[in-house]
Amino acid sequence: MAVILDGIKIAQEVRVSVRSEAAALKEETGIVPGLAVVLVGSDQASKIYVEKKAKACAEAGFFSREYKLPEDTGEGKLLDLIRDLNMDKFIHGILVQLPLPRHIATDKVIAAIDPLKDVDGFHPYNAGALLTGAPLFVPCTPRGIMELISRTGIDIAGKEAVIVGRSNIVGKPAAILLLAQHATVTICHSRTKNLPSVTSRADILIAAVGKPHMITANMVKEGAVVIDVGVNRLEDGKLAGDVVFDEVAPKASYITPVPGGVGPMTIAMLMRNTLEAAGAAAKK
Ligand code: GUN
Repeated sequence: MAVILDGIKIAQEVRVSVRSEAAALKEETGIVPGLAVVLVGSDQASKIYVEKKAKACAEAGFFSREYKLPEDTGEGKLLDLIRDLNMDKFIHGILVQLPLPRHIATDKVIAAIDPLKDVDGFHPYNAGALLTGAPLFVPCTPRGIMELISRTGIDIAGKEAVIVGRSNIVGKPAAILLLAQHATVTICHSRTKNLPSVTSRADILIAAVGKPHMITANMVKEGAVVIDVGVNRLEDGKLAGDVVFDEVAPKASYITPVPGGVGPMTIAMLMRNTLEAAGAAAKK
């Protein structure tokens, strides 16, 4: 039976250390880390995430500002706000909650964020720098995944890592981070042929598709570390991961639950990235 990787507990540990590092930064430099969170429209899940981020900032001793803009906000207006935030000396991190409404070009908005304030790590500069090994910021969910894997104590070098899902936010950056730690990495997606034969090779299996219960026990190698990034709302209102937990847990060595696995780690890493942004600003 797998050991459950408790994301709530590990995230809390990260947040406690971020809080004390933030207090030390304030003591030394007078700088209080500041995060701006921008939400356009009224997507229910996004609203909940944004509230959690504001609460986490308060708990970490950060300054935060929320910008809740109506669904019909024009792209130009959003770009103007980002330019203002780029210049704002109280703001060290800018997060634009995704997805954006369809009439706004997400790429253009992300590219407008100062890479030094891109605490999501989504700007093309940081995405490119991740490939060559020295990004200013690593995207929060993959960073949280790496922290969870490091807590297992396994040596990643030489392991087979299989990632199901190729998003810019999770799948691709997670693959690059695992590669940097010398895993042999495979990325699977909707066109992958014979998916179970590929996932069954994985010593480390990351499910980041957004399809409830798609990873079943027959797709998992005995003793694998299984990280479930899926957050799927079922018709009965319950949250489900991409992994059939009850089936896979007896086969895995370590597994993350949903909820309470990767999700809390994302916010903890956002706090860490924002602290690092403020620390870098203090050195300028
Ligand atoms: N939407 C879903 N995940 C994320 C995230 O990590 N950052 C932002 N900005 N939007 C998201």
